[in-house]
Amino acid sequence: TRRHFSGSSSRMQAVNNMTVFGGGLMGAGIAQVASQHGIKVTLCDLTDQALATSKTMMQKSLSRIANKKHPDSKDEQQAYISSVFDNVTLTTDPALAVKDADLVIEAIVENIKVKKELFRMLDEECSAKTIFASNTSSLSISEIASATSQARRAKFGGVHFFNPVPQMKLVEVIRTEETSDETFQSLLDVCKRMQKHAVSCKDTPGFIVNRLLVPYMFESVRMLERGDATAEDIDAAMKLGAGYPMGPFELIDFVGLDTAQHILDGWRQKVESGQADSLSSDLVAPSALLSQKVKEGKLGRKSGEGFYKYN
Ligand code: 3HC
Repeated sequence: TRRHFSGSSSRMQAVNNMTVFGGGLMGAGIAQVASQHGIKVTLCDLTDQALATSKTMMQKSLSRIANKKHPDSKDEQQAYISSVFDNVTLTTDPALAVKDADLVIEAIVENIKVKKELFRMLDEECSAKTIFASNTSSLSISEIASATSQARRAKFGGVHFFNPVPQMKLVEVIRTEETSDETFQSLLDVCKRMQKHAVSCKDTPGFIVNRLLVPYMFESVRMLERGDATAEDIDAAMKLGAGYPMGPFELIDFVGLDTAQHILDGWRQKVESGQADSLSSDLVAPSALLSQKVKEGKLGRKSGEGFYKYN
């Protein structure tokens, strides 16, 4: 709408330094793509081991990209990868991580309490000009922003990337009632610099993609639980009959069963507390099969097994 795209770009605050909290699949991907496009990035996670895993993920992805960019020269491939890593600082110290941040993007665990705690702390640590954004896929941006001061809320929005971040072209940019035009424009500008296509959506459960994709994934799990068809046949059906690149079970394994469970639990809490008119209680009912797999540590590709087994 007009309101969503109003505001002049001259008032926009350029982002030269970005800090990403959470070095998992999403955080590492966001850091990598920002750095590929010339933004200085600091990636912060709790342990050196977590950061080492982030680095390995970036290295793997950059190798694929470098191979395509410079198919005939190993030296140029290596030089490209090094130039991307030159823009990235890894740290476990949150205060140090945000020292020069124009924009902080949070991509930590999908848990509202933990996210609010992080932003409460960051609100105190960061300069007044720092923009805050969450990469949450299913939680309310306004609710997360409520952990920060009134002044910060104008500088708070959502930027929701998709897995694998280097490959998926979309970012959903979310503005709350309190997000300023200037902040919204800055977030759109960062997406453009990262060569992503930005769409905007109100601060609603799942925004656009997950509001459609998550019910589809859970409906598939319930279909399997009822014994209507096998996971293999459901996946084959959606790939060959609807042209999806992955079937729903391949997709849940790819996204992570724990993440899927977090989304379901978060939405159920919303429905139970009367905060989400657009979600039905049938949609958010617990799934015994999903809970059992998560309990067994079968979290999908990342743990070696989910609905399928991986090497
Ligand atoms: N880094 C860099 N490049 C990558 C990459 C990565 N991590 N992963 C894949 N690619 C590139 C490959 O190099 C290849 O490039 P090319 O076409 O130029 O050679 C291209 O992507 C295709 O990869 P592959 O040939 O290995 O495999 P596929 O053709 O099966 O594609 C896929 C893989 C892109 C993951 C595709 O299967 C797909 O689009 N799947 C659906 C993904 C999806 O729906 N994601 C959204 C999940 S929901 C979400 O993230 C929201 C969250 O909040 C829950």
